[in-house]
Amino acid sequence: MIPDRLILSFDRALRTVFGPSRGSRPVPGEDLAEPELTPVERAEAAALMRVNHVGEVCAQALYQGQALTARDFTAKATLAQAAAEEVDHLAWTERRIAELGGRRSLLNPLWYASSYAIGALAGLAGDRWSLGFLAETERQVVAHLESHLNRLSHQDARSRAVLTAMKRDEAKHATSALHLGGSELPLPYRALMRVASKVMTTTAYWV
Ligand SMILES: [Fe+2]
Ligand SMILES: [Fe+2]
Repeated sequence: MIPDRLILSFDRALRTVFGPSRGSRPVPGEDLAEPELTPVERAEAAALMRVNHVGEVCAQALYQGQALTARDFTAKATLAQAAAEEVDHLAWTERRIAELGGRRSLLNPLWYASSYAIGALAGLAGDRWSLGFLAETERQVVAHLESHLNRLSHQDARSRAVLTAMKRDEAKHATSALHLGGSELPLPYRALMRVASKVMTTTAYWV
């Protein structure tokens, strides 16, 4: 018999990859006016938002994979709480892509599957490393959101509001993972994660 949690996990994967996602908090900046952007600025914003959406698809998969194998109950509850906030990010970026006339990545099933496997492996390594991995992931996401804020048009207050709110949440996720006992990952792992994230962000910008 197939365990219930595998079915739930699969259901969540389908909703993440094919959408639509429903967040619990309102979209940041939704009361701001839609900016007047040049076609180039609009295309750039849509591509950056696609990259961020892929990041959130990966975040869902990482959290789900980790929750599958994480042992400690406190860590599980915290991971579930953070994963719920990531659903907001998923919904916010999905909506902003649509507003900008962009599209989501065609490779989302692939991003999800690979991140799920990585998350499950990190979970197997034990809570200390799993939480350390989470903290490092979130820190890299914060840096990457910062770089997108620098690339976005200053006129695009709606996109900026979404990324700024996400950045605040991700920094909080990193801190809570460390407070729960996450260890600093050895340098080669951090470097490897940076390479993997570069491959993902570069590909998702185009596809
Ligand atoms: Fe996120
Ligand atoms: Fe996060």
